[in-house]
Parts: sequence; structure tokens; C-alpha cells
Amino acid sequence: MRIALLTGGGDSPATNAAIRAVVKKAQQDGHEVMGVRRGWAGMIEDEMDVLDRHAVSGILPRGGTILGTSRTNPFKQDGGAEAIRATVRGRKIDAIVAIGGDDTLGVAHKLNGLEPPIPAVGIPQTIDNDLDKTDFAIGFDTAVSIATDALDKLHTTAESHHRIMVLEVMGRDAGHVALTAGLAGGADIILVPEKPFDVEAMCDRIQKRRDIGKTFSLVVVAEGATPVGGEQISKDQATDQFGHVILGGIGEYIGRRIHEHCGLETRVTNLGHLQRGGMPTAFDRLLGTRLGVAAVELVEAGRFDAMVAMQGNRIVPVPLGDALQSVKPVDPELLDMADIFY
Ligand code: F6P
Repeated sequence: MRIALLTGGGDSPATNAAIRAVVKKAQQDGHEVMGVRRGWAGMIEDEMDVLDRHAVSGILPRGGTILGTSRTNPFKQDGGAEAIRATVRGRKIDAIVAIGGDDTLGVAHKLNGLEPPIPAVGIPQTIDNDLDKTDFAIGFDTAVSIATDALDKLHTTAESHHRIMVLEVMGRDAGHVALTAGLAGGADIILVPEKPFDVEAMCDRIQKRRDIGKTFSLVVVAEGATPVGGEQISKDQATDQFGHVILGGIGEYIGRRIHEHCGLETRVTNLGHLQRGGMPTAFDRLLGTRLGVAAVELVEAGRFDAMVAMQGNRIVPVPLGDALQSVKPVDPELLDMADIFY
């Protein structure tokens, strides 16, 4: 068999671990892997090279994706899907393995739905961890470690200066990084898109801490969080091919409001793309490795329009349509638990 392998959307640490696993498993089973450049753009433009064991040697600990990525949506380009079909036919590709989040895997799902279908399977990869039907997506654990480390560092300087420190992290539609890192890093206030926040309630909590002698507080906020009755804050209203605006600025907004409302000195850090770079954790490397092997097994079994997922400690196949039906929200129990720790 010949498999086309691509990575799309925002990159994540340990994507290379999944690429390596797909190539090694496929090669062991006698298949050929074509590494597609720049996500779906490379399928449209027929840009790919053979990926063999040598090409993936040494990439396990490397951040980013050796294939490159893009936010190209073939269904928003004239003739995009037809161009992909031409590439598949021309290159004699039997199946596509797509690594990415809801946008990238949404394209894979649509290709499977064409007549005749273009067979594709998906591997979940997004630091946002908002794909449904999988407990973990590749890159999330590393992003949480980076955000936790940032909170640890902000803690000591917040304490020295008796300040309110606000840390903005990624998380467009769900606050998994904010909540998990917030709990692991001992944040006093955790704000996520799933639960609009109220500035007065935030000031009350900060005041309660001051009443017991805690002269500093840490706030962690997901970029997609909103004030009650308010909207997401974006840097630019321009949308990408999947209809998303570039979010950013909620941390500054909160810093300003806390200063105005509680009269306290505030500093804001936006962790930004630091969360998406660098060495993956051992957990993410293993996850990428297991999902990569399982994706090749799905192709071998002819189970297309499916995604490999981690449920509990098991890797299982799930229909792509199910994984894409809705954004996976944060665990409400964990969110309630966050209210204990301030
Ligand atoms: O991949 C998802 C994500 O990390 C979102 O949390 C964030 O909004 C977006 O990517 C930013 O991506 P970029 O700046 O690379 O377009």
C-alpha cells in the first residue's frame, strides 16, 4: 500500500513522534509512506516525497513537524477537493493519514464522504485537547507542562512584589490547558471559555486571599474565555480558511479590569506560541508513537473515516464524525474543584 501522511493546523510537540511511528510501522509491514508538505496544501499542489526510516531518524524529541503545516481548507478553494483526487490518483495513494485537530480532521472526514470516497484516517493532535472521543490529543501534555512551569515562575515573582499576575494561555473553544495547568501550578483563579467570568467575583476572591494574608494572586485565563455577556477578544477580525479569527488580548483585558476594580498592581504574561514549541514530554512521545502505529493498523484493516483515540489507557478507533460532532469541554467536576484552591 502507499500511504500519504500529512500534518495540518497548529503544530504541537510530539507530532514528529507520530510521523516516525507511522513510517516505521508502515515500512515494517511493507508499505510506502509519502510525506506531504504543508498539510492539505501539499495534497492540492501534489507536493510530497517518500519518507523512509532514514528520513525520520532522530526526530522523536524534536518539536514542530518535519512535514510543515498550513491552515489550508481544500473545501474553501475552487477545485480543491478535485485537485486532491487528482493527486491521489496520480500518485496511486491508497489512503491518507492526517494528523491534526478538528479543522484538519474535518477535511479528512469530508473526503471520506465524497463519491467515490477518498479514504482517510485521522490522528488527534492539538494542544487545545478539544477533540471529542479521545482523552488526549498529541501535544496537550507538553503544553500543560510548559504552562505549569510558567505559573511556577510567576508565583515567586508575584509573591515578592505582592502583585496580581495574569497568565494567558491557548484554548480557543475549551480551556483544557488553562484548567489543567492552573490546578497543577496552583493558580488562584482559572478562567475558561466554558464558564464566562465576572470581574467583581474575581476581585472578591482576590480580596478574600488578602484577608488571610495572601498579598498576591495568580490568574490563568484561556484565550477564548469571555466576561459574562461579553465576547471573545481577537487581535484581528480577519478569518482563516476555517473561519477562525486570531484570538489574543483577554489577559490584558483582565489585568486592566482587576486594576480598575480592585485597585491592585497587575502584570500580564501571554505565553503564546511558547506552548507549542520545544521538546515533547515522555507522555506525548509515547502517545504519538502509539497513535501512529494504530493509524497504520486502521489503514491495513480498511477502517476509513475513523480516528485513533486514547480512551483510558487504551488506543481505540472511533468514527471521525463522532470525534468532530462537538468540542470536548473541560470536565465540570475538575472546574468545580478549582474553586477550592485559592
Ligand atoms: O492549534 C490551536 C491553537 O493552538 C489555538 O489555541 C490558537 O488559537 C491557535 O492555534 C493559534 O494558532 P496560530 O497562531 O498558529 O494560527
